[in-house]
Amino acid sequence: MKLDSAQLEAFQRDGLLILPGLFSAAEVAAIRAALPPLFEEESEANIAEKTGGVPRTVMGLHRRSELFARLARHPRLVGPAQQIAGPELYIQQVKVNVKAAFEGDVWQWHYDFATHHRDDGVPAPQALNLHILLDEVSHYNGPLYFIPGSQRHEPLPTFHDTASTSYPLWVVDRETVTGLIAEGSIRPALGPPGTALIFGDLMVHGSPGNMSPWDRAIFSLILNPVANAQTAFARPEHKHHTDFTPVVPLADDCLLEPAAAQ
Ligand code: SIN
Ligand code: MN
Repeated sequence: MKLDSAQLEAFQRDGLLILPGLFSAAEVAAIRAALPPLFEEESEANIAEKTGGVPRTVMGLHRRSELFARLARHPRLVGPAQQIAGPELYIQQVKVNVKAAFEGDVWQWHYDFATHHRDDGVPAPQALNLHILLDEVSHYNGPLYFIPGSQRHEPLPTFHDTASTSYPLWVVDRETVTGLIAEGSIRPALGPPGTALIFGDLMVHGSPGNMSPWDRAIFSLILNPVANAQTAFARPEHKHHTDFTPVVPLADDCLLEPAAAQ
């Protein structure tokens, strides 16, 4: 799958693409069906919310599930990423952010490069984050908020927040966020399951807690150019995979026809 020139222009301008209907209902059902056993596993790659009971993020999925191994090589994710970031990309991170009904906690305002650079020694902000909404995402169940244009700034100051949630994160302070929103406003990423999002490493984003009775799970694949690989290795493998082999996209029907993945 290829992005057209209008989509590429919008990505350069806004730093974000929202692609409704990129994955079918049957494909989303197959992805969702693979999740419950993974949530049940005793794994350091399953990180619970602060409140304990429910998973916040479930990581390392392409190493733990054959279906997610295929999804991480899906041509509708890898193809657009190669157009934007170049042909040789490795799989940096594969997860589902769960944001469970009533329990799902905030993701503070941040941009991913702050963590990739400071924790993993990634040299430049070239990684792409590719998401698939696995639930209907509305204003009520903790949608992602983006600040279009925030990616055009030089890397902004950040501080390490180890207290607000169960997941340590390099975050952007309120004053900086206020200035960015005055320039760029906030765009929520809403839509039915199967909607995809693409954003880069400098895009400032976050999401509020989920007070609603509706779950809001999102699949996330981070691909990074092989030439821009991490240079520091303190974080565990599930947070930044160390196999820098370039990803080769599978066939378009690889999720529903596993044989196509051979
Ligand atoms: C979220 O799941 O709301 C945050 C995801 C991200 O930071 O990529
Ligand atoms: Mn993020």
